[in-house]
Amino acid sequence: MAEIIVVTSGKGGVGKTTSSASIAIGLARRGHRTAVIDFDVGLRNLDLIMGCERRVVYDFVNVVQGEATLKQALIKDKRFDNLFVLAASQTRDKDALTKEGVEKVLKDLAADGFEYIVCDSPAGIEKGAFLAMYFADKAVVVVNPEVSSVRDSDRIIGLLDSKTRRAEGGEPLPAHLLLTRYSPGRVDTGEMLSITDVEEVLGLKALGVVPESTDVLNASNKGEPVILEAESEAGQAYEDAVARLLGEERPMRFTTLEKKGFFSKLFGG
Ligand SMILES: Nc1ncnc2c1ncn2[C@@H]1O[C@H](COP(=O)(O)OP(=O)(O)O)[C@@H](O)[C@H]1O
Ligand SMILES: [Mg+2]
Repeated sequence: MAEIIVVTSGKGGVGKTTSSASIAIGLARRGHRTAVIDFDVGLRNLDLIMGCERRVVYDFVNVVQGEATLKQALIKDKRFDNLFVLAASQTRDKDALTKEGVEKVLKDLAADGFEYIVCDSPAGIEKGAFLAMYFADKAVVVVNPEVSSVRDSDRIIGLLDSKTRRAEGGEPLPAHLLLTRYSPGRVDTGEMLSITDVEEVLGLKALGVVPESTDVLNASNKGEPVILEAESEAGQAYEDAVARLLGEERPMRFTTLEKKGFFSKLFGG
């Protein structure tokens, strides 16, 4: 049985694609056969972050429209044999995806032995976001600790609870919160909401808290998702989040401001 995980949010630019890429790598690195699908038709972002953009010949829309087989369109990751990317089309319009077409791709992936299918959703409440969440077994709601991001996430949680296959069947869709771009310093000064504030407003528990870090952009520019950067706090936070997704208990790290002493400042310790 494949588990379908949608990575979604209300607002754009909060870190869904960054998170989808790192979660997919994290699952594959732990030995799980994983596919990650870019539902953001017209934007094509995931393949860049995964570092496979030059190998895209066929994409998700081609498969949905019957112009290529799934096998032709799946791009094998350079680092992990058990990880595959299904890229979004850059040129097609957003209506190119259909519910039946998406369902068939997900079924075929499951039949092909994939254990996890990570769906990188476009932002908002348009068709692409709806299709990305519809068949999900689990949702990861990506939120930045800001009022606007939290407010828009509330709307998405409403949709997860009503407009998904599980919801229609009367089964709840388990949803987790992933807080990204978190700066403990800005929480202390009141510019950002705290973890418990966000948890309380949305009524969801945090699966992980990823700090704001320049490592993320550097990693994306290299086509190496940040979870691969062992030294990076953001990378380690993603690794923790994947472990929790798989049911492990791990304490939250990097959520408080480290008051560095003179020597550690001097030697970067
Ligand atoms: N933890 C982080 N720290 C710093 N920048 C981040 C972090 N997470 C994401 N970003 C940046 O935010 C921007 C949007 O990220 P992206 O994953 O494309 O969001 P989305 O898919 O939700 O639109 C990118 O420039 C990315 O590098
Ligand atoms: Mg994106």
